[in-house]
Amino acid sequence: MVIAHRGASGYLPEHTLEAKALAVAQGAHYLEQDLAMTSDDHLVVIHDPYLDRISDVARRFPERRRPDGRFYVLDFTLEEIRSLRVTSAVVEAGESEFAPEYPGRFPPWSSRFEFHTLQEELEFIRGINYATGRQVGIYTELKAPWLHHDAGKDIAAATYAVLKEFGYDSRDGSAYLQCFDPAELQRIKDDLGPSTGVDLPLIQLMSDTAHQETRVRDAEGAWVPYESDWMMQPGGMAPIAGYADGIGPDYHDLVDEGSEPGDVRVTGMVDEAHDVGLLVHPYTVRADALPSWARHVDEVFSVLYDQAGVDGLFTDFPDLAVGFLARSTE
Ligand code: G3P
Ligand code: CA
Repeated sequence: MVIAHRGASGYLPEHTLEAKALAVAQGAHYLEQDLAMTSDDHLVVIHDPYLDRISDVARRFPERRRPDGRFYVLDFTLEEIRSLRVTSAVVEAGESEFAPEYPGRFPPWSSRFEFHTLQEELEFIRGINYATGRQVGIYTELKAPWLHHDAGKDIAAATYAVLKEFGYDSRDGSAYLQCFDPAELQRIKDDLGPSTGVDLPLIQLMSDTAHQETRVRDAEGAWVPYESDWMMQPGGMAPIAGYADGIGPDYHDLVDEGSEPGDVRVTGMVDEAHDVGLLVHPYTVRADALPSWARHVDEVFSVLYDQAGVDGLFTDFPDLAVGFLARSTE
C-alpha cells in the first residue's frame, strides 16, 4: 500500500489539508499525521516539534526563540499557532535568508496555508471519505514523547482520546500508530491501549542512534539520546515483535551499501521482520532525492515493493507509487 508522507508533500506544503486532499485524489491508501502538543494541550499536525521550518513564527514572535534557535510548538497556544502563515519548507541559507528545502517543489511563501489540529484533519478525512466513497486510512505518529513528558504532557494519551472519539479504536485497517520511541510503544501496548479500549497496530520507526530521534532519562535524570542501533542488527526484529506489529525503517537501510544502478542487493531485514510476523513500511521515497543506486523513482519502488517485499511505503509522491503499483498488476 501507499502512505502519503505528510500528504502529497512533493507537490504542496507538508501536512496542510490541501496536501492531504491531493494525496486522496492521487489514490493514496493512508494519510500520515505527525503530531505535537501546544502549551494549551491541543494536538497540532506538524512534523517538527518546532514551527520555524514551515512558518513565519520567527518574524511574528521573535522573543519566543529558545537558546537552540528554535520556536517550539510547546511554547505557543493553539490560537497563536493558528495565526501563523504556513509555507513549504525552508532551510536557513545564510544570516537571514531562507531557501527552499526542495527547490523543485511548491515555492516558499506562496499562496495561503494554515496549521490545523488532529481533530480537524480527522473530520476532514471523514468528510472526504464520505463524499468520495473511499476508505482512506490514517497513519499517525507521536513525535518526541520524551519532549512532551519533560513538559508534563502525555502526547500518547491525548492522541488516543482523539482517535477514540473518531472511532479509530480497532485493527480494522483504518489506522496505524507509529513512533520512534520503543518505551512509549511498550507503554501503549501494556497500559494505554487496554485502559482506553483503543487497540491499533503499532509500528516501531527505526533510525540509527546518531539521528537522535528519541531520548531517555539517564541515571541523573538528564534526557540523553536513546541508543537505537540494536534494532538494525541481526536479531533486532524479535524483540520488536514483542510489543509492535510492524517496523518503519529508513528505506536506505534495506539496501546493501555498494549497490549500483542495475546491481541492487537488499539486506535481510525485511525477511527477518516477516519471519517474526512484523509488517514493513519503510520511509520515505522522494522522486527528487534518489539514492545513488537508482536513476528513476520507479527503480526505488521496484526494489522496495518487488525485490525487498515491503508491505507498503511512505512517499512524498503518492501518485507515482500508485501508478507504479497499477502498472505492476496490469
Ligand atoms: O513516519 C515515517 C517517517 O515520516 C519518519 O520520518 O522524520 O519524516 O517523520 P519523519
Ligand atoms: Ca512521520
